[in-house]
Amino acid sequence: MSDLKTKYLGLELKNPLLVGSSGLTGSADSILKLVDYGVGGIVLKSLFEEEIIREHEKNMKEKVERLESNLEFLDYFDYQLKEDNFRRQRKLIDEIKSQTDVPLIASINCYSVGEWFSYAKLLQDAGADALELNLYRIPSKINIEAADILNGYYEIVRRVKEHVSIPVSVKISPYFTDLGNVVSRFDMLGVDGVVMFNRYYSPDFDLENNRIISGPVYSSQADYANVLRWIAMLKEQVTCDLCASGGIHSGDTMFKMLLAGADSVQVVSALYKNGAAYVRDLLSGVQSWMEKKRLDTIEDVHRMGRSMIPNHAEVFERVQFMKYFGEHGKG
Ligand SMILES: Cc1cc2nc3c(=O)[nH]c(=O)nc-3n(C[C@H](O)[C@H](O)[C@H](O)COP(=O)(O)O)c2cc1C
Repeated sequence: MSDLKTKYLGLELKNPLLVGSSGLTGSADSILKLVDYGVGGIVLKSLFEEEIIREHEKNMKEKVERLESNLEFLDYFDYQLKEDNFRRQRKLIDEIKSQTDVPLIASINCYSVGEWFSYAKLLQDAGADALELNLYRIPSKINIEAADILNGYYEIVRRVKEHVSIPVSVKISPYFTDLGNVVSRFDMLGVDGVVMFNRYYSPDFDLENNRIISGPVYSSQADYANVLRWIAMLKEQVTCDLCASGGIHSGDTMFKMLLAGADSVQVVSALYKNGAAYVRDLLSGVQSWMEKKRLDTIEDVHRMGRSMIPNHAEVFERVQFMKYFGEHGKG
């Protein structure tokens, strides 16, 4: 029987399948069910600074109204209310860790540089095994320069790395002109892994009711192709781990990501669509490919992938399909 054991961010995983940050990883019940079905690790639902600030402001307002003249207590409440969120996260981590040794990666998304490292430190103290920094801001103002955004990201990573000792990964968007360079800069800053890629909320119009609604929330099977391309192209060029995320809906696709060089994969949409038990299908899909190809370990899968890629690296770089589309279109 092939062995799916692997290492990601220096953590020992019994297999490379992580459940990505989402509502599926926000409660102990849901996480423990996924663990029962055999996942190798969990990325906890992100703590969003906006969410915490909003809750914090609401609580502060209530306190201010009650305290009236006793405003010197506000500093204390400011600290205490923020701490409450982390106490909840610690409780969740403690509850899971009391029942399983599955690695837990905490995830944060902040918008003020100062908060990134304070949240990171608090999550480390709460018992997370590693951190995933969910980096993305839509540059909606047209006077924002790409260099400013990137320098902001690099500064966040630098500061977080200074403040925590647990492994740190960054989860990035595919929307960079110089994606390879960006990943290599993160690598040079000492991140332990890069997760490629995040999936974003897209607004849409509800034509009948004249309002804005959410666009498609889940990925589709076809979305994996761009992830596969970038994992394959960057694997040999960086030293940090690479995690494939986006469009992994079957054991076949998961196996392909490992062939491309992924150290782990994250799955979300397929588990929302098919239920937690689908973890077994994904793992048995990979297992049966490994057995069919006589591959004993994940390193064997990587080795086989490397043997396929060097001669055909240009296929991964190809953007226009002169040859392929040409042949495809022939009647
Ligand atoms: C309902 C839902 C909620 C999500 N919530 C988060 C989140 O809190 N933090 C985060 O980093 N990514 C979040 N994501 C993105 C996923 O972690 C993942 O990166 C993305 O969905 C691509 O993987 P998939 O194709 O397997 O769905 C969410 C995705 C979905 C569908």
